[in-house]
Amino acid sequence: MTETTTQAAAATNGLGRPNEFTPERPLRVGIVGTGGIAGSHAQNLSRLEGRARIVGACDIDAERVDAFTSKWDVPFGATSIEELLDGVELDIVHLCSPPGLHKQQAVVALRRGIHVLSEKPPALSLAELDEIADAERAGGAQFATVSQHRFGSRAQWLRERVADGVLGRPLTAVCNTLWYRPDSYFDLPWRGNWALEGGGPTMGHGIHQMDTMLSILGPWSEVVAVAARQARPVATEDLTHAIVTLQNGAVVSVVNSILSPRETSYLRFDFEYATVELEHLYGYSDASWRITPAPGHEDRVAEAWAWGPTGKESNHAAQFAAIADALEEGRPLPVVLSQARSTLELIAGIYASAFTGGRVSAGQLGPDSPFYASMAGSGAPWAIGESHD
Ligand SMILES: NC(=O)c1ccc[n+]([C@@H]2O[C@H](COP(=O)([O-])OP(=O)(O)OC[C@H]3O[C@@H](n4cnc5c(N)ncnc54)[C@H](O)[C@@H]3O)[C@@H](O)[C@H]2O)c1
Repeated sequence: MTETTTQAAAATNGLGRPNEFTPERPLRVGIVGTGGIAGSHAQNLSRLEGRARIVGACDIDAERVDAFTSKWDVPFGATSIEELLDGVELDIVHLCSPPGLHKQQAVVALRRGIHVLSEKPPALSLAELDEIADAERAGGAQFATVSQHRFGSRAQWLRERVADGVLGRPLTAVCNTLWYRPDSYFDLPWRGNWALEGGGPTMGHGIHQMDTMLSILGPWSEVVAVAARQARPVATEDLTHAIVTLQNGAVVSVVNSILSPRETSYLRFDFEYATVELEHLYGYSDASWRITPAPGHEDRVAEAWAWGPTGKESNHAAQFAAIADALEEGRPLPVVLSQARSTLELIAGIYASAFTGGRVSAGQLGPDSPFYASMAGSGAPWAIGESHD
């Protein structure tokens, strides 16, 4: 980076000084919530060659935060986000807490001018996400959402092919999250209810595939859906099927299930000149993708398939590196709030369509809709007589 561009970055990156992250002055990360996914954050941050360091962590469970700080050599531990922010200087907090806390904790950090990277889902509702947007504006810091599958090489490759049109128009797609979660998965108190998790597999699992699909094919315009609670001891759905029409005219079939013993995360894109498929479970490499040309288009497709980028797997480290790059260069932190909102709005649209029996258009679910304040909206059909919690 030249001196001029470094100075330009310093003026816009919110850190107030020229900022190329080094082991001497790394990106200073605070971890909020030191349960399951926090270990994955620590592991993946350690792959950034010293550009990032966890300098503090908090959890309401003091024993858990102690275990985390000793395992990952973190110099400061606390039992609340306020204590963490008071006790150590941070550039960014990673919210690894249960979904029901993301909005409240994001607002606390953003209002103090500290960037936030939230685990998915970024908030429980569109209303909460709009509150986060207000706090972003008030504090001048940025809110980003974890969506690690946007960051593998082939997803980047495909976004570029959609932009240059080499594969022709996208016509149809499949976006399946067919996962399996036994009843015991719901032993954690925040799982399987609207108030703490915000929804079932549509919100908690399929969000990965739907967000990746939208990041490749672009915004949606209309959805019609069915939701069911087939087998799990939950207040939410355990299955949704949706037909989503995109702004570019492509029609996508989406399934979100936690009832599927032969698990797969499957994305399929049928363009005029080729089918592109991605099959994996929780993370992909280049080998997880394949392409099939339409008859007569073999050469054009083979040539395009040989182009880069290649080699980058989809994982948290890839997104953390992209965030460090963005901070150094003064660019918005990926995945920005407006992109996360489009995906969250699709999820709200799936619930609204499934629970009301109608078609839902993008932009329709404003503050006057019950699905703006809660994904449960007017209530799941199976929940008549049950509490929304
Ligand atoms: N991106 C992914 O692939 C992925 C994978 C798994 C989980 N997640 C997401 O990560 C988040 C956490 O999931 P998990 O499985 O690690 O859950 P978890 O229950 O194992 O961990 C959450 C931790 O937060 C702590 N906590 C609770 N209240 C707190 C508070 N007020 N302040 C600080 N800490 C608090 C809990 O004590 C617990 O240690 C969820 O939003 C989940 O959806 C993302």
